[in-house]
Amino acid sequence: MKKKVVIYREVPEKVVNTLMKNFEVSYFKNLHTNNYDEFIKELQHADGLLGASMKMDKELLDHAPQLKVISNISVGYDNLDLEELKNRGIIATNTPGVLNDTTADTIFGLLLATARRMTELDHYVKSGNWNGSKNEDLFGVDVHHKKLGIIGMGSIGQAIAKRAHFGFDMEILYYNRSRKKEAEEAFSATYCSLDELLTQSDFVCLMIPHTPETEKMIGERDFQLMKNSAIFINGSRGKNVDERALIKALQQKWILRAGLDVFEHEPVEKDNPLLTMPNVVTLPHIGSATKETREKMAMLAAENLSKALDGETPPNIIR
Ligand code: DGY
Repeated sequence: MKKKVVIYREVPEKVVNTLMKNFEVSYFKNLHTNNYDEFIKELQHADGLLGASMKMDKELLDHAPQLKVISNISVGYDNLDLEELKNRGIIATNTPGVLNDTTADTIFGLLLATARRMTELDHYVKSGNWNGSKNEDLFGVDVHHKKLGIIGMGSIGQAIAKRAHFGFDMEILYYNRSRKKEAEEAFSATYCSLDELLTQSDFVCLMIPHTPETEKMIGERDFQLMKNSAIFINGSRGKNVDERALIKALQQKWILRAGLDVFEHEPVEKDNPLLTMPNVVTLPHIGSATKETREKMAMLAAENLSKALDGETPPNIIR
């Protein structure tokens, strides 16, 4: 009998077809309240689960007694309760590598858009306010030759550093759990303490995974340490930042602007004060969201899942 796979995220048709060759597949292209009960029912017989972001905790796993693998279509895996998975002997996998350049493009684009006020000015033009008179109020700040502080010099952090160093002549500071000699050599990046990075950087870019240790890692004290002219970029997870402190930092002008791809709660609440601040550029968590890259991620996730169900070691097992 074929093993059963449940897909709970929209994926390219070719991923579904590949999996259907070897497994019985239940595909929930649009999982919402109307079909959630059906999804829970399908979990009863699921050997493998493929998707992204859904909280995989004890409560959900109790519905999936024969589950052997959860394949995340993402590099982050803060949706998984790893302790609980380990106790149940369930393998977890993710999709690192294939999204590095795409995510770095997004985050660098966000940094540029925030520094040069592109979304604000787009609105200004489209709403008919451009009347031809010169207006210093529209000026942004330079990115090139400035100091970029990267918190989390993993492979995406390094792809951002590459763009900053070679494309924009930026000086790079970084803070990471361990030193990254390869980044120091390739991009002349300087390893420093978090406080040094915060006090010296013109741009502070947060790129760390979300774990219990990094929860609200950047808070009031950290924003106070930053320059008043600093621009804060979060391309990691919203929960790594104390969002109230960020709002206060922007309101009190402890920092100049922020560019955010992620929020404490997603989708972000409609009344979140960050949404009405002109000095904040927001994106809906789209770091890796291009057609090409999401396809590569889904294919890699399918490979991870297939290997695990075939009794082989998947290439991207989370340990
Ligand atoms: C990732 O891959 O972790 C991205 O942030 C999408 O969730």
